[in-house]
Amino acid sequence: MTADVVCGPDAAPVMLRINGVSRTVLVEPRHTLLEALRLDLGLTGAKEVCDHGQCGACTVLLDGRAVYACLTLAVAVEGQGVSTIEGIGGPGELHPVQRAFIEHDAFQCGYCTPGQIMSLVALLDRIPNPTEDEVRGAVAGNLCRCGAYPNIVRAGLAAAAAMRARSSTRSQRRLVRIPSPRGAGVRGRGAVPPHPNLPPPGGKEQSTSSPPPFAG
Ligand code: FES
Ligand code: FES
Repeated sequence: MTADVVCGPDAAPVMLRINGVSRTVLVEPRHTLLEALRLDLGLTGAKEVCDHGQCGACTVLLDGRAVYACLTLAVAVEGQGVSTIEGIGGPGELHPVQRAFIEHDAFQCGYCTPGQIMSLVALLDRIPNPTEDEVRGAVAGNLCRCGAYPNIVRAGLAAAAAMRARSSTRSQRRLVRIPSPRGAGVRGRGAVPPHPNLPPPGGKEQSTSSPPPFAG
């Protein structure tokens, strides 16, 4: 279905890319993305609280942008990438933001938590080194009735630091090269001199009158 196709009033198939997997759901044009996720796809991580775009409990990512799923029509996001809390990490491997929420005790009842986490994931994808104000701004649209804000902000900053450390470790690993035994292709001070017991580069082993090492 494309934007210029008139659909309804009956349910119509809509293809959504949910957490990297293409899913087709039959939805009425009046149904929101939140309804499609929770009722049709069984993904209940995004919460329905106000259903009026006022609390942020339903926050998901649409092609990387944080949006209120309760204010987004499912038919309007056909073919777009939707990320939900279920797709960013699991019990076996938590997303750094999820882990930081646990480590910094950033929730009480937990009802706002999936939305808070998704807003922070969107922020950290855009700004890896945010200021405290930027973290506060990212969750300004997510209400926490339990008042866990100080720890939510701490968790956001800690997750940013953890993600930067992880990505710097990964780039260092990419930069490390293992030199060949003769130092071929390695320039400068790191070059490894040829090993005396190896044949010369590109040539046959030279005949020698002495026995090979370890022989006899
Ligand atoms: S449920 Fe969507 S903003 Fe409150
Ligand atoms: S932890 Fe209860 S509403 Fe935020």
